Amino acid sequence: SEDAPYNNVANTDYSQVTAREQTKQALQQVRQELGKPYWPWIAGQAMITDQIQASVNPSQPTQVIGQVGQALIPQTERAIKAAATAMASWQNTSAQERVMHLRRAADLMEQRRHELAAWIVLEVGKVLPEADAEVSEAIDFCRYYADEMERLSAGYQRDLPGETNRYAYRGRGIVVVIAPWNFPLAIATGMTVAALVTGNCTILKPAAPATVVAAKLTEILVEAGFPAGVYQYLPGPGAEIGPYLTRHPQIHLIAFTGSQAVGSQIYEDAAVLRPGQTHLKRVIAEMGGKNAIIIDQSADLDQAITGVIRSAFGYSGQKCSACSRVIVLDRIYDTFLKRLVEAAKSLNIGAADQASTTVGPVITAEVQAKIRDYIALGKTEAKVVLERTAPEFGYFVGPVIFSEVPPQAQIAQQEIFGPVLSVIRVQTFEDAISVANNSPYALTGGLYSRTPSHIEFTKTNFEVGNLYINRSITGAIVDRQPFGGFKCSGVGSKAGGRDYLMQFMEPRVVTENI
Ligand code: NAD
Ligand code: ALA
Repeated sequence: SEDAPYNNVANTDYSQVTAREQTKQALQQVRQELGKPYWPWIAGQAMITDQIQASVNPSQPTQVIGQVGQALIPQTERAIKAAATAMASWQNTSAQERVMHLRRAADLMEQRRHELAAWIVLEVGKVLPEADAEVSEAIDFCRYYADEMERLSAGYQRDLPGETNRYAYRGRGIVVVIAPWNFPLAIATGMTVAALVTGNCTILKPAAPATVVAAKLTEILVEAGFPAGVYQYLPGPGAEIGPYLTRHPQIHLIAFTGSQAVGSQIYEDAAVLRPGQTHLKRVIAEMGGKNAIIIDQSADLDQAITGVIRSAFGYSGQKCSACSRVIVLDRIYDTFLKRLVEAAKSLNIGAADQASTTVGPVITAEVQAKIRDYIALGKTEAKVVLERTAPEFGYFVGPVIFSEVPPQAQIAQQEIFGPVLSVIRVQTFEDAISVANNSPYALTGGLYSRTPSHIEFTKTNFEVGNLYINRSITGAIVDRQPFGGFKCSGVGSKAGGRDYLMQFMEPRVVTENI
């Protein structure tokens, strides 16, 4: 029924010896498969390309995860043609058939759970429990959107004497999915299966550092039965084939998750009606954040410290949901800061495949350099209270905490996307909310407080898409916490929520006089 909650799949319980054994075996198996070639999947076949690009392990960049064939403009054009050809029959498949493919994909992911998690650990440097949770999220997206499609496919009917009215949805056309590297399985899966189940032919363009995980997703979707031209995998240079896809007159919808700069460019590119184009494109763009957690004097500090540490430094701060600002009331500021710094000193920085690691690498050398530039800038804007050293063997950045950060400082306004946290002092609770809202972004936010009036004020006035009270601000779960922001954090409705699929469809009404 409308209100029946979705039953989320459980994460692996690593306290069980068998689970730890299976994980170890999966990592060993994946290590033996490193360095293999992967090719774009176009019109139902692997397409060998002239150019290849190595995807490397950020914990140890000499280790090649896979050699990935690069689609350029000619391959992109072929993919669009194949999608256009497949569209007629795909649009006419029953929702039930499409739903069945999604459920099959979910089952395959579940069977390959440990292996998929191992690829995530090695390709993007995410620690195992977080990689495992990402596999759960991908499975949930498949099953939840399958359920949702069943619900929506019923449409509705309004009949009067002599007249029937049938309201129903259908796919929009060809969808391009442009995915980020930071949730290489979950986010790519979510956008792709949403597009497929609603009756669209879908081209997935993964982010360069995450192309092997996307190739594993491709194996699964092909095995799940999506026909030639209906699902296609198009790894290639984003700055070249990305704009080609988003400007192409035969594309109907672009589902993008990534940075605000690229998302805004896509929005602009997609708005232009090109020669031969007979429709306007829709853009779903999930973008960045500059997420804040507020700590007031009534906060349970044990809880607050754990929540802030997890939100700021989990996956080295490389989540759009990550906390990058903590706004602390003056009365508790010094106590909180001291304890926060102590806690951050005990984080274990190291390779993502080591069980003891809590903070792994950042994704690439370029990203590492950009974060280091922000750290240097931060030293001119605020006071460094912690700067951890990091190993040299991979793309590591030690966690950094700045205190007395002015709310307008660049490090407090721009998305750094690394393990860098700004602590801001405020005098009143109203100031805390206004500093928190003083950002172009509105994605996640949090509050630690035991004061009911503060909690109520925050619920109404803190402008974010996902607000968390007395818990960490990352790790949204499908159906329980549909995820997404507004302002410059995005356009589109929430992933893993009720309104999401409708964006991928055209509603039609057929009225018949009888
Ligand atoms: P990015 O914007 O650099 O790249 C995202 C994708 O866009 C990649 O596939 C890339 O190849 C492609 N691309 C690059 N230039 C393009 C162009 N001109 N036209 C079309 N496509 C182009 O982002 P990223 O570094 O992969 O991911 C990190 C960013 O993603 C952060 O800003 C983060 O906040 C955001 N993010 C948001 C969410 C969310 O749900 N709101 C979730 C995860 C990540
Ligand atoms: N959905 C992811 C989270 O909530 C980005 O952390």
